[in-house]
Amino acid sequence: MHGHDYYDPETGAFKVPLYLSTIFEHPDRRTGETRKSDRGFEQKYSREENPTVRGFEKVIAKLEQASASLAFSSGMGSMAAIYLSTLSSGDNIVVTKESYGTTQELALNLSKFGIKTTLAGPETEDFIEKINQGVSLVVVETMTNPQVRVADVRAIAKRCKEVGAKLVVDNTFATPLLYKPLLDGAWVTLHSVTKYIAGHNDVIGGVIALDDSMDLVDLWEFRRRLGSIMGPFEAFLSLRGVSTLKVRFEAQCASALAIAEFLQDSPKVEEVFYPGLKSSPYHKTAQKLFAEKLYGGLLSFKVKGGKKEALEVLKRVNVIKPSPSLGGTESLLNYPITSASKTLSPAVKRELGIGDNLLRLALGLEDIEDLKEDLSQALARVP
Ligand SMILES: Cc1ncc(COP(=O)(O)O)c(C=O)c1O
Repeated sequence: MHGHDYYDPETGAFKVPLYLSTIFEHPDRRTGETRKSDRGFEQKYSREENPTVRGFEKVIAKLEQASASLAFSSGMGSMAAIYLSTLSSGDNIVVTKESYGTTQELALNLSKFGIKTTLAGPETEDFIEKINQGVSLVVVETMTNPQVRVADVRAIAKRCKEVGAKLVVDNTFATPLLYKPLLDGAWVTLHSVTKYIAGHNDVIGGVIALDDSMDLVDLWEFRRRLGSIMGPFEAFLSLRGVSTLKVRFEAQCASALAIAEFLQDSPKVEEVFYPGLKSSPYHKTAQKLFAEKLYGGLLSFKVKGGKKEALEVLKRVNVIKPSPSLGGTESLLNYPITSASKTLSPAVKRELGIGDNLLRLALGLEDIEDLKEDLSQALARVP
């Protein structure tokens, strides 16, 4: 499952070595030709192709059941390469309304190149309607941030195929363990490796996986021009991280469900958002799409009251750390209106219910009783 199949017959090593070398013999003095990597791209300079990065890409391709993968210096680096390689002036794109703020911000910034961005969702029906209006690229998040709404990616992919739009699925929150978007017809699946894939809060990285070999060349060329390939050390750490993805993510999903149920019973909590709860309006879609009856390691909740009460909880947690990001070993509590959702317009925030009493909790790997105790004592401070 963790996808490793590296073996060096020379040394017997089972781990992909860390190739820090930026340069490679060029041309190959044995043959007089340019060296090629295993997939046929020129192997002469690490901004273009690097053997450690290739090791990581192979694992991701296997996990997403894709024929190819490209690793980037960050999730946003991946997104930028996709936008630049695919879009031309006059194109329309559709992006999840409740998306990661910077993904949305970058798409909206493309207006200066004559590219129009329409925000869609959060419900699938709205997506389908906006896709019908003629678009070349659609960007969907499997689970939205921060309210963990689950899009019916299968239905969206079907519609994209019918109208000839390319579908990018940001699968960061679901991981390939829950969902493999390419199997439902997505064009590209994308991860902020920074989160569950690397999994230890010590790597910034991004990765995409796809099946189209022509588009792979185009994306590879843009990564080369942009200089946004993942660094070899990050690839080494990400390889190490991804080898434990299954056990980490399963534990995080189990903790998220237990904490969601725990918070539902708290008199200090107004509402809990987690697709694993039977009461969630997204439970059915999650059950339809996600394997293994797991619903992700992240939830959000509204503290009774307003900003003062929410910030009090943020200030009082001890085991849980107040910080952005998710997917690592530490449980992180986050205030979306000043973090991932900060750049959404006030109207969008209002429409989506991202208000000043909303907190987002990303589960780490701490003992579940410690987490409950920590939340209990923090919530008890709320007047
Ligand atoms: C869903 C999602 N996609 C993409 C990104 C961007 O990834 P990175 O921070 O690795 O650039 C983030 C970052 O938080 C994210 O949450």
